[in-house]
Amino acid sequence: MDLKSKLVHIAQDMRQRSRAPYSQYRVGAAVATADGAVIGGCNVENASYSLTCCAERVALFRAVAEGHRHFQALAVATEDGGSPCGACRQVMWELCGEIPVYLVDGKGAVRETTSGRLLPAAFDADSLSSPT
Ligand code: THU
Repeated sequence: MDLKSKLVHIAQDMRQRSRAPYSQYRVGAAVATADGAVIGGCNVENASYSLTCCAERVALFRAVAEGHRHFQALAVATEDGGSPCGACRQVMWELCGEIPVYLVDGKGAVRETTSGRLLPAAFDADSLSSPT
């Protein structure tokens, strides 16, 4: 199975682990590390709504916590093939740089974009190095 299919498949699987009792919007994500490992995540909601963490960030933070620092692609699975939120776009850009992002819907249709296209004119580490 190629990397894209593997990521899509694992992101879809991770949707089953979603904890979304408030929104019912189940999201799964999977990120491929530079060395070919695949780490999954799902959204985890909280009664104090703002404490919720999105699937993409759960996958990425989990990967970092497991010792990975470089990433090559990411997939996100939802029922409607929805796009990542702004916070996740920012974290993806910071941790992954320019990588392909696969957005898959409940029927398995995949829309392909990139982390850079999702966050044009990003604020990042380079923005902090310009003199005042
Ligand atoms: N959600 C994600 O997991 N990823 C996104 O990029 C968009 C939103 C989750 C958060 C919350 O649990 C639910 O979807 C509805 O916003």
